[in-house]
Amino acid sequence: MDRDDLNTKRIVTVFGGTGFLGRRTVKRLLERGFTVRAASRHPARVGPVFSSAARMPEAVEADILDASSIGSAIAGSQAVVNAVSLYVEQGVQTFERVHVKAAADLAAASRDSEVDQFIQISGIGSDPQSDSNYISARGRGEVAVANAFPGAFIVRPAVMTGPDDAFLTTIVKLIRLLPVYPLFGDGGTRLQPVYVADIAEAVSRLIDGQIHKGSSIFEFGGPRIYTYKELLQEIAQQVDTHVRLMPVPFAVWSALAGVAELLPAAPITRNQIELMRHDNVAAIDTPGLKELDIEPRGVDEVIGLIKQRA
Ligand SMILES: NC(=O)c1ccc[n+]([C@@H]2O[C@H](COP(=O)([O-])OP(=O)(O)OC[C@H]3O[C@@H](n4cnc5c(N)ncnc54)[C@H](OP(=O)(O)O)[C@@H]3O)[C@@H](O)[C@H]2O)c1
Repeated sequence: MDRDDLNTKRIVTVFGGTGFLGRRTVKRLLERGFTVRAASRHPARVGPVFSSAARMPEAVEADILDASSIGSAIAGSQAVVNAVSLYVEQGVQTFERVHVKAAADLAAASRDSEVDQFIQISGIGSDPQSDSNYISARGRGEVAVANAFPGAFIVRPAVMTGPDDAFLTTIVKLIRLLPVYPLFGDGGTRLQPVYVADIAEAVSRLIDGQIHKGSSIFEFGGPRIYTYKELLQEIAQQVDTHVRLMPVPFAVWSALAGVAELLPAAPITRNQIELMRHDNVAAIDTPGLKELDIEPRGVDEVIGLIKQRA
């Protein structure tokens, strides 16, 4: 029996399987031969998301906030990935409920169902001690998952890019339009943008057993560290435009984001502003893409993909 035959027998359930990272993770796992369940609150969306894929995942209806739907979604799975996001709190969907309690519930249910591997997608900078609700919930979520599922992998990506992302695509559009481009503060925050498909590849390698022995926390960043200002200059160069940059204090951004959050699809949130206050760079003493033999692709390659789409 070859590895693909073995993988076909292994069921991986991806919560958030319709999302920006989740859909690529599902696709990559299917390509590796796994049987994959894409768990979503809207299973009817799964078909269209994977319409061009060579193999289809199984669509399962599940809400991470609902214990009974979690149980049926993971039944029989050997691996579970939590790629659920929440960037703006709404009603019962709070950072505490989704990123701490529901993540821990999913990890505990996975342990009780004798799942072999649990992968929690978190983010670089997650810190239980942070003053930010969001960053602290991400940090406490990591701890709660590790307690509920000993040996769980905690995956912390840097800001992820891709042809359909909300980060680079927006900058590429705006940098061509705006006579002056606003910086977050003085633009000195350091970032290490990473291509979303490289993270999906990393997650699939972790599930396929290509692990750095003894490691449970991974930080995944791209090939180059930029200040935000340098990143904008690089993007402007890549799209053949000239950019004039203007420092804008973080307090002004927070006020703007507070108003933006009142819109149905907020273009920017206060948590994103908070994240932009802190360097978002992979720690050198934490295993990363290199340990999984992945050569990360740079911003220039992703901009090439964005240009092809435009
Ligand atoms: N994007 C980045 O640059 C970035 C950087 C670092 C870390 N991360 C982390 O990576 C993870 C994935 O982020 P993303 O940007 O790929 O997210 P995304 O595109 O917003 O997708 C989120 C997914 O979560 C699912 N979801 C939301 N609430 C749910 C619930 N109650 N029950 C079940 N599913 C639910 C949604 O599925 P349905 O609506 O179909 O149910 C959707 O598929 C998150 O933990 C995020 O914080 C992202």
